[in-house]
Amino acid sequence: MELAPLSGIFGAEVDGVDLSDELTDTTIAELRAAFNKHHVLVFRDQELSPEAQMAFGRRFGELDTHPFVHAVGEYEEVLDIVTEPDDTVNFGGGWHSDLTFLEEPDLGSILYAVDVPAAGGDTLFADQQAAYDALSPTMQSMLDGLTAVHSARRQYGEGGLSTKSKAMQTHGTDAAATSIEHPVVRTHPETGRKGLFVNRAFTERIRGLRQNESAALLEFLYDHATNETFTCRVKWQPGTLTMWDNRAVQHFALHDYAGKRRHMRRITVKGDRPS
Ligand code: SIN
Repeated sequence: MELAPLSGIFGAEVDGVDLSDELTDTTIAELRAAFNKHHVLVFRDQELSPEAQMAFGRRFGELDTHPFVHAVGEYEEVLDIVTEPDDTVNFGGGWHSDLTFLEEPDLGSILYAVDVPAAGGDTLFADQQAAYDALSPTMQSMLDGLTAVHSARRQYGEGGLSTKSKAMQTHGTDAAATSIEHPVVRTHPETGRKGLFVNRAFTERIRGLRQNESAALLEFLYDHATNETFTCRVKWQPGTLTMWDNRAVQHFALHDYAGKRRHMRRITVKGDRPS
């Protein structure tokens, strides 16, 4: 297995692993160590059926299902993420970590490119641990004691942004209004590193602050957390698979390919309660 960095800060391209093989425990341990270190791993030229993708994902934990988007294929764990040529909104088209509105947000996501435009449709990632490290000690210690409220309401409530994608089976629901509280800074359960854990899609407010204070602080954090210094970019080809650590990164699916179709296949691995 060989690793080549994707940026000066995080992300790596992995060569020499065929994910459709039955991988040994040693290989999985090496991949897990690389995942914890680099947060985003990219594998090229993979030929993966949905079954093989699920088998690979299960080596990292139990697979999750999306609470608000219905899988259209045979398996409820496999989400086909499709943007049709005439879609004006794409799934994941804003900075976020997956499913932070859950009590136990997913540990990570494993996305496979089935069909992608010849140019465009890249995914951006932002390293939330690097973003935390770059803050002053005074700001860090203020954030360390705070919690934030997350909800799926703006995305999956009635008329929510994510219900506007024509290609996806998403229906706005009142159930999306449920809220959950998470620390603003989470400690990675496997490495002990601290990272920011708020995002524009699902975070609603910071507990204990006045509305204008909360809005101003969140705005600062959203901007800081996705500053270009902390980002890397994945360009897809059919057969590229990328897995990312939702406990350490945010991501953004660009929609710069109007008139073209993009088809990805995603599975997610269940995570733990952030602390
Ligand atoms: C997502 O999981 O948010 C979608 C990412 C992508 O399609 O690039």
